[in-house]
Amino acid sequence: MKVDVLLGLQWGDEGKGKVVDVLTPNYDLITRFQGGPNAGHTLEFEGKKFVLRSIPSGIFQGDKVNVIGNGVVLDPALFKAEVDALKASGHPLTERLKISKKAHLILPTHRLLDAAYESAKGEGKIGTTGKGIGPTYTDKISRNGVRVGDILHNFDEKYQAAVARHKQILLQYDFAYDLTELEKAWFEGIECIKEFDLIDSEHFVNDALRSEKRVLAEGAQGTMLDIDFGSYPFVTSSNTICAGACTGLGIAPNTIGDVFGIFKAYCTRVGSGPFPTELFDETGDQMRNIGCEFGSVTGRPRRCGWIDLVALKYAIMVNGVTQLIMMKSDVMDTFETIKACVAYKIDGEEVEQFPFDLNDGAEPVYVELAGWQTDMTQMQSEDEFPEEFNAYVSFLEQELEVPVMIVSVGPDRAQTIVRYQEA
Ligand code: GDP
Ligand code: IMO
Ligand code: MG
Repeated sequence: MKVDVLLGLQWGDEGKGKVVDVLTPNYDLITRFQGGPNAGHTLEFEGKKFVLRSIPSGIFQGDKVNVIGNGVVLDPALFKAEVDALKASGHPLTERLKISKKAHLILPTHRLLDAAYESAKGEGKIGTTGKGIGPTYTDKISRNGVRVGDILHNFDEKYQAAVARHKQILLQYDFAYDLTELEKAWFEGIECIKEFDLIDSEHFVNDALRSEKRVLAEGAQGTMLDIDFGSYPFVTSSNTICAGACTGLGIAPNTIGDVFGIFKAYCTRVGSGPFPTELFDETGDQMRNIGCEFGSVTGRPRRCGWIDLVALKYAIMVNGVTQLIMMKSDVMDTFETIKACVAYKIDGEEVEQFPFDLNDGAEPVYVELAGWQTDMTQMQSEDEFPEEFNAYVSFLEQELEVPVMIVSVGPDRAQTIVRYQEA
């Protein structure tokens, strides 16, 4: 069998968690392959709402196996908080969740380093989630990381060596801190991790594929935050694109099946960095208020703007997207007109190809489409779609050259319209 990959095509928060939950009944194994608790994946069903950070979004549907892959960075303290919250709400998961021994641990000092680096950048700060993501991946790449599997061998030695190194850097940054509480919560988290099956996930996933199990890989963040192809340096520190599923799970490129690309009917971004179609006016406020565009965990207001087809085409290209999933269509329900950016004007010239650096100033060139001005939130099938909405979807399909398989019309699991099943 193949691994289907579901990933964000914009700057994150497209609604990945909701759709992974919806698609989970079609799979046996749900996996995360990169990122860490910088993610906040929201799921709503039966009047309940959950936000997942490191645990895959397949955890609520039946007894599917969920795997945290080697490409993920795991914060024990935040992981324990997530586990405790799920247990408290009647979702025990010890049997259903496995963790790669090769996943790297976010140390308490990684979080401090994240804060120190951000404050040193001043105005130029990335606007990170403050979860220690960058410093943890930095240690991984510079071969100084501590992995989940290390918990089982000479752990204290490895932990202390890393912390001693981090303290030296913090000293250089003149960064004041108190580690006591952070370390206490962190070591409680380590005990929590020990209760789970710590596995060689590359073997586990490949064995599953060989025994005809269906696997879904759940991306975190979005393509425009990818370390290589995003709006560098205002990006995260992992490969959020489809290729990241290969390195983050230990699967071969020829095992990839469908690539589901998720996007909002408009666009949002949190943190600093360029965003060509950003709106600073009432329309932007309207998107933020109707779409509840505030961070799932931090509550930070998300920047809002029109859909950007230049960036979307680029994201589709680097991921090899086979099916599109359009989220939050309902947020546009009251809009009289809808704009879509089809090109950028850079130095007076119109370009349709995503440029090297958005920071140089890319002015959006828009086409305008009629809004549908109809409440879509209770719709059950595409037969009910208003004509203008169908025209918007057709326009996107024509521009993007990939079919829109699912349309989401609200945050609840039930507010999902499948236009057709994938082959
Ligand atoms: P993720 O990080 O990609 O999983 O997305 P987030 O959970 O951070 O943000 C998506 C937000 O939109 C969450 O609050 C979801 O509950 C909500 N949401 C998802 N799909 C829809 C939709 O179709 N319509 C509306 N109005 N909200 C949605
Ligand atoms: P999900 O999976 C939206 C953004 C941060 C910041 C940049 C770097 O919920 O879509 P980091 O902490 O990763 O070093 O921050 O990336 N960012 C996200 N934005 N959704 C996310 O995850 C994000 N994870 C990181 O705001 O701009
Ligand atoms: Mg999110």
